[in-house]
Amino acid sequence: MQSLNQFTLTEAVKESFKTEEGSRLKFLLETFIEHLHDYTRETNLTHQEWMGVLNFLYDCGKISTPERHEFILLSDVLGFSALVDMINTRGGATEGSNLGPFYLDDAPVKNLGDDLATGREGVIVMAKGTVRDILGKPLAGAIIDTWQADATGTYPIQEQERGQDKYDLRGKFTTNERGEYWYTTVLPKPYTVPYDGPVGDLLRAGNRHAWRAAHLHFIIRAAGYRDITTEVFFANTDYIDNDAVFGVRKSLIAALKPVKKGQDLGVSVQRQPDAMFEFEFVLAPE
Ligand code: BEZ
Ligand code: FE
Repeated sequence: MQSLNQFTLTEAVKESFKTEEGSRLKFLLETFIEHLHDYTRETNLTHQEWMGVLNFLYDCGKISTPERHEFILLSDVLGFSALVDMINTRGGATEGSNLGPFYLDDAPVKNLGDDLATGREGVIVMAKGTVRDILGKPLAGAIIDTWQADATGTYPIQEQERGQDKYDLRGKFTTNERGEYWYTTVLPKPYTVPYDGPVGDLLRAGNRHAWRAAHLHFIIRAAGYRDITTEVFFANTDYIDNDAVFGVRKSLIAALKPVKKGQDLGVSVQRQPDAMFEFEFVLAPE
C-alpha cells in the first residue's frame, strides 16, 4: 500500500502509466505531469480556482466547431503557438510564425506577376524576392503558398455569406530558374482574433486587446527542404509591437517602399503597384 501525500503523488501518477521505456510519449507525459503538479503545489490552487480552469476549458470545447478551434486561439494568445514556432525554426532558416485558422491547401495556382487582388481597392503592393537555401543558393521551382486579409482586415473566407469567394486573395506561385517570385496584391489591414468566446474573456480579464498587426501568410515548400510556415509584417504599422498572438519577429518585418508611376520594376506585373517590399525566404534542408 502506497502512502500518498502531495509530494509522493507525482511519482505514483507517472508510474501508473505503462508507456514504453525511452519513448517520446513517456517523456512528454511524465514531464507534463511533473510540471502540472509543480504548478498546483506552487500556486496552492484552491478547489474554486481548479474548477474555474476546468470550466474555462469546457467552454473552449463548447464554442469550438470545425471552423473555430478555440484551443488553438488559446494557444496563440498564451504564446504557446509562438513558442512551438520558435523552437522548431532551424538555424539560418526563415523564422516560423502563425498558421492561423484561414489556410486552404487548395489555393489557385498563379503565374509570376499576377495580381491577387483583382477588382479590389486599396494600396496595391508588389511582393518580390527570392527563395534560397541556408548557403544562399537560389531555389528554382519552390512553391510560395500565400493567403491574406483584404484592405479592411477581412479574409474573404469569413465573408462567404456576403458573396465573397473563399479562394480570393490567396494563391500558389512557383519561383523561376533564379529562385525569384513576384506578384501584386492589396495591403492588408490589422484585424482582431475572435474575442466573443472564453479566450476573449481571458483577454479582457488581462486588459489585453485582440488585434493582430497586418500581415501576409506564407507556406514555402521546396523538394528536399523543410517547409516554412511564416508571416511577413510591415515596418511602422499598428500593433507591430504588441500583436495579440506574438507572431511578429524582427526578421519578418519588411519595409514598404513607394513606387512611382512608370518606375522600372525590373519585372512585368499585371497591375501597377503603389508600393513594394522585398523579402527573402530561406529554407533549411530536410
Ligand atoms: C490569423 O493570422 O489569421 C490568425 C491567427 C491567430 C488567430 C486568429 C487569426
Ligand atoms: Fe492572418
